[in-house]
Formats: sequence, C-alpha cells, structure tokens
Amino acid sequence: MAEETNWAEEAWQQGVLKTVRNAQRIKDTFPHTSIQGEYDQNAPEWWTAGFWPGLLWLVQREAGTAQEADSLSRIALSCEKQLEACLRDPDLVDHDLGFVWLLSGVAHYRQTGNADGRRRGLLAANLLAARFHVRGRFIRAWNFDSAAMDTRGVAIIDSMMNLPLLYWASEESGDPRFRWLAEAHADTVAREFVRGDGSICHVVEFDPTTGQKVREHGGQGHAPGSAWARGNAWALYGFALSFRYTGEARYLETAERAADVFLAMLGEDIVPPWDFRAPAEHQVAWDSSAAAIAASGLLELAKLSPRGEAYAAAGERLARGLYERYSSGASSAEEGLILQGTVHYPERRGLNVPIIYGDYFYMETLAKLRGREGWF
Ligand code: GLY
Repeated sequence: MAEETNWAEEAWQQGVLKTVRNAQRIKDTFPHTSIQGEYDQNAPEWWTAGFWPGLLWLVQREAGTAQEADSLSRIALSCEKQLEACLRDPDLVDHDLGFVWLLSGVAHYRQTGNADGRRRGLLAANLLAARFHVRGRFIRAWNFDSAAMDTRGVAIIDSMMNLPLLYWASEESGDPRFRWLAEAHADTVAREFVRGDGSICHVVEFDPTTGQKVREHGGQGHAPGSAWARGNAWALYGFALSFRYTGEARYLETAERAADVFLAMLGEDIVPPWDFRAPAEHQVAWDSSAAAIAASGLLELAKLSPRGEAYAAAGERLARGLYERYSSGASSAEEGLILQGTVHYPERRGLNVPIIYGDYFYMETLAKLRGREGWF
C-alpha cells in the first residue's frame, strides 16, 4: 500500500512542477494540443477552453506557497473573465458549457466562495438549460450547419459530462428545473446511445420537429456501430456523475455497464486505439485522453458501486500505466503531461499528441488517488 501511495504522489508532484512551469509561458491563453513540445493557443469559445483553468485550480488548491497559489489563481481568473464574453453571444455557446464552466467559474466558486464565479456558473447553466429540446427530451449539442446532419436535432455522448453543471445549478439555487432537464436528457441518452452490446455511439440525430430518433452517426468514431474510445469513456464517467448527483439507480447500472464494456474492450492495454472497432489499417492512433477520462470515471464509480473495489483497482491500473508508460517525464521539455492522445482521427486532426483534456483528467485522477475531488 505504501508503494501505491508513493507512485501516485510522485506522479502528482511531477505534474504540479510541469504545470507551474507551463503557466509561466502559457499564461491566460487556451491551450489545446502540444505541437513539437509546446502547447498551441486556441479560441476561448472552443469546448476545451475550461481545461487549463480547471487544471490550474486543481494545482492551486495544493500550492506550496501563498505566492504560487495567488499566481495560479490570477491566471485562472483571467481565463474566466475572457470566457464570460462568450456567454453574451448565442452563436458562441453550445452544450459544452458544462466542460467550460464547471472547470472555470464553478471551480473558482467551490474553491474560494467567489460570488462572480457562482454568478457566471449559474448564467452558463441557464444557457445550457435553454438548449433542451422539449419534444425529443435531449440537449442540442452544436449550432453549426452541416451537410451530413441536421444539427438542430443532434445530441452527442460527450454531453453526459456537461450535466453536472445543471445538477450543481439546482443544488446551488434550490430550483429543481435544472436537475429535471438533466435527468430527462440522461434518460434519452441511456435509451438511444447505449447499444444492446453495451458499446456506445458518439452522435445521434433526432428529427428537430418530432423529436424522434433518425439515425446514429459515427462522429469522431470510425462509423455507425463502432466504439469511439473517448465517447465510451465519457459515458462511463458521465453516467456515474448522474448517479452521484441524483441517487437514481438506473444511472449507476448504465455507468457500470459502460465501464465493464470499456474495460473488456481495453483488455490488458493502458491506452486504447482512438476507436476500439476501427479496422486494422486505421489502428495507428492512440488516445491517452480516453484512458485518463476512464481512470477518473472508474475512481468515481469506485465510491458509488457495490463493486467499487474492482473499479478502484482498474482506475489505479490505468493511472499508474499512464504515469509509467505515457507521461512526458519531469526532465523533458515537452509541455504536455501525457503523450499520445488523439483529437479527431476521421479528420486527421491531432493524432498521437498531448491534449489539454488528457492532462486535466490525468491530474484529476491523481488528485482523487490522493484523497481529493475533481471539479465535476
Ligand atoms: N467533446 C469532443 C471530444 O471529446 O473530442
């Protein structure tokens, strides 16, 4: 047991050192992928914009000195203020308000009690609630036009990670409407995205007028019927969170099934291919972010499920494997914390590179192994 504690502590401290070092260069910009060792700068309206402030709040919480804590929280706050501008433009917000605001304003509020963080978080929750499609009982994912699908009727599995913003808003405001919407969406996702074999699709298109399911799309996975690794990880973690916030047993059952199927598809590996069911010639990109998300989700399930010990062991195995085989190491100049993530294989974007959400969930997992919570 002592040895277990040591590797997680060592991994955490390495991640802290690199994050503090990165903060000096990245400052209050919005990193997404690390290209040749250096994180790029993305637009604040992109769905990944919360992960850097979220990572800073994780590290700030345990900073060694008041000066370091102050410097990290100033950067996170500056990011949050830039993100607030997006809330004023309906074209710039989509269902990823949860990812963005749980990790910025709400984390800020949870950490310091800051009233502006709470206000911005509640505003974001209102905008997320406004995306609910009453007939289809789902939250609309995106705004853009697409030749491939009518996005007015599109929901995606990633949405399950956005629901905690609605659960939090109900707890914080005492207004149950947010929670009812989140549960309605989670029930639709459980019914329409989870297949008979327990694998999970990325995108479902509904008729925007009737709300009836039209078809499944491959999305960031290989094709309809395939198993995009990150999407299956979003599902296992997201349903576990819906259970944690609501206590509704049906969400726990769905999370356990998603976890069991994810682990069965992964086998002895640590990092999955970008899609478990991609044909052999496309099994050339790997997704460490999926492993990090699954690890954190498994540690969440460990606290909730009667089979918690097995999920804890599986989450620790993944976290340790990420540290020992995929972390960039203390002495390397690489800014990313974990290597070999994949953003979007079908569009050949960001293949086998460090990604900011991989880094966030890696550090969130290590924080959990050290007895702390994440921001979801
Ligand atoms: N939410 C988009 C992705 O996981 O790549």
